[in-house]
Amino acid sequence: MSKRQIKLGAMIHGVGHGWGEWRHPKALTDASVNFGFYKQQAQLAEAAKFDFAFIADSLHIHARSSPHYLNRFEPLTILSALAAVTQHIGLVATVTVSYSEPFQVARQFASLDLISGGRAGWNVVTSWLSGTADNFGKAEHPPHAVRYRIAREHVEVVKGLWDSWEDDAFTRNKQTGEYFAPDKLHTLGHQGEFFKVKGPLNIQRSPQGQPLIFQAGVSDDGRNFAAQNADAIFVSPESFTDARAYYQDLKKRAAQHGRDPEQLFILPGIRPIVGRDEAEVQSRYQQAVELVSIEDAIVALGRPFNDYDFSQHDLDAPFPDLGTLGDNSHKGTADQLKQLARDEGLTLRQLALRFSRPRRDFTGTPQQVADALQHWFEQGAADGFIINQLLPDGLQYFTELVVPLLQERGLVRSEYPGSTLRDNFGLAVPENRNTVRRSQSAVA
Ligand SMILES: Cc1cc2nc3c(=O)[nH]c(=O)nc-3n(C[C@H](O)[C@H](O)[C@H](O)COP(=O)(O)O)c2cc1C
Repeated sequence: MSKRQIKLGAMIHGVGHGWGEWRHPKALTDASVNFGFYKQQAQLAEAAKFDFAFIADSLHIHARSSPHYLNRFEPLTILSALAAVTQHIGLVATVTVSYSEPFQVARQFASLDLISGGRAGWNVVTSWLSGTADNFGKAEHPPHAVRYRIAREHVEVVKGLWDSWEDDAFTRNKQTGEYFAPDKLHTLGHQGEFFKVKGPLNIQRSPQGQPLIFQAGVSDDGRNFAAQNADAIFVSPESFTDARAYYQDLKKRAAQHGRDPEQLFILPGIRPIVGRDEAEVQSRYQQAVELVSIEDAIVALGRPFNDYDFSQHDLDAPFPDLGTLGDNSHKGTADQLKQLARDEGLTLRQLALRFSRPRRDFTGTPQQVADALQHWFEQGAADGFIINQLLPDGLQYFTELVVPLLQERGLVRSEYPGSTLRDNFGLAVPENRNTVRRSQSAVA
């Protein structure tokens, strides 16, 4: 088997994660709805042989949401367009299970998977903003634990639907008039706690069999869900120590679910700041710091707490006791933040700035950043990374300056191994469950 290498994903995130990134002199202010920008970023990542491009998403905004949230592309639509202008890079779309029907989701991802020749991935999220319910005619946002129960059933149904047609089902024989082999079409007939779906799905499997499953969850429920269902996990650790603890925990949970832990890829999201020399590193770091005002950092801190308004608290008093606030939102992250404030005795201002300001972990010269990535990878804290661009040319700096060093060290690939997302990850095509069943009953 070939040597395990660092996986790389590019988060394409329009005008940026924060509230101020669009104001950088070089930023494209309409990047979130600019196809040319998405195309340029995807092609840049593909030229550097990245494993995948990643589109985050949510379904609820209000006037204080960050600029990118206010006005952006729907993930499956933008990725379908990117599929036509790329050949190898995986295309991972975020779609929520709490506000979607499995049949629709299965169909849309199967379509992206076929359009792209087997490069689709689904980032399964449960939605943490309660206001989402108002956009879908729901009386209430489901509680955290229920959202994960929904997630389990939803994913099970989607995967079941993806296997509706066995791979050789479509015979398309003009002579006999047989368009498909009837015994190779399978009806799911699912009836569960949340969904009732008969099937079959009206689209065949792609060359990679099924799209990959990505997930991001920090809470206990989130971790168990990921350990059981995900091929890759997107995580946002506070430090190397946290990352390693999370990594080991998830690998252990995967093994407890009877899986090979090597087949579960743990991918911290990072925001590298690279400069050609120390002076440029400092200047770029400073530019990134200046894009974060305390007012915006306070709003950003409210996000994992269901968009809680922190402006009502004294900025320089100790971080307030929030009780159970956050438990029904981004629970894992909310718990981590409360813990961090307690452990280090932080004020509201300090915690908000810590949360939003660029970190130093992956700030440095190309050599230093490559060393840090290598350290996390080799010391069991990451199987790869999702690169978030902080400055408008951040991805370009990373691909032009850091990737060649990683390639020289044999830590990332220099050529794509195949054409599907599964090829990029070295994951086998899952056999259609109905074909497996057929061969098992033939033996019996
Ligand atoms: C790094 C990271 C990225 C995430 N990206 C998204 C996203 O794009 N859209 C979304 O609705 N939720 C996103 N989430 C939220 C999770 O899917 C999940 O709903 C949330 O973390 C609450 O679950 P937890 O308490 O298990 O962490 C993300 C979470 C993390 C940690």
